[in-house]
Amino acid sequence: MGDTGQSLPEYPESDTRQGERPEGPLMNFQALLKRRKSVRAYEQRPVPRGVLDRVLASVLHAPSAGFTQGNEFLVLDDPAAVADFWAITADPDDSPKPEEQSVFPPALILPLANRTAYLTRYSAPDKAGYGLDQAERWPAPYWDIDAGMASMLILLAAVDEGLGAWFFGIFAGERELLDRFSVPEEFKPIGVIGLGYPMPSDPNAARGSARRIARRPTETLVHRNGW
Ligand SMILES: Cc1cc2nc3c(=O)[nH]c(=O)nc-3n(C[C@H](O)[C@H](O)[C@H](O)COP(=O)(O)O)c2cc1C
Repeated sequence: MGDTGQSLPEYPESDTRQGERPEGPLMNFQALLKRRKSVRAYEQRPVPRGVLDRVLASVLHAPSAGFTQGNEFLVLDDPAAVADFWAITADPDDSPKPEEQSVFPPALILPLANRTAYLTRYSAPDKAGYGLDQAERWPAPYWDIDAGMASMLILLAAVDEGLGAWFFGIFAGERELLDRFSVPEEFKPIGVIGLGYPMPSDPNAARGSARRIARRPTETLVHRNGW
């Protein structure tokens, strides 16, 4: 989990956590899926450490190419660190209004992809035959894909914990941001996941594309046995 000074709970592979969550029974998966949406307005209270740690532990269940487990995660939940994040990444072309920013998430997770870790893993004897020790030979950037897989688990685990979550991009200040938090050179964020307790209504929802674009029905996305 990198050198964030945070220790995560033990999470044995056989532990399915059934019925043992302190906040109540586990949510039905279909109900959880339906609740998953981008939340852009949060109560300004911290996410308890135990809750955040359980959300973070979800990433241990993500698949990863060659089981490289190359992703690491920068967690910002100290108010000063979060404030620095917003100041450094403020996009001059799309800066949020003060009232929008006043309800931004109190905790942020940056999923960090590590291309070098994948090139190293695929240079190991059991993988060397694939010829993937050079980045340009990969059919797709598995380091980014794996970071996306882990991000999805974080989004779902957040719902399970009664939190809201929001995946968004970094469009300005990335280098300065990584330097501010002493992130080693090989790590690159694929985006940011904001987390927190959702406000009862979301005054920032209009920023989301889902308010302007209809969700496509399954039949228009799926091509059975051919196009
Ligand atoms: C890779 C990725 C990048 C995104 N970037 C942004 C972003 O920069 N700002 C934002 O408000 N939402 C961002 N979103 C959230 C999408 O707008 C959102 O998922 C989509 O509109 C569907 O809405 P829903 O998540 O509520 O279902 C991003 C989502 C993904 C997966």
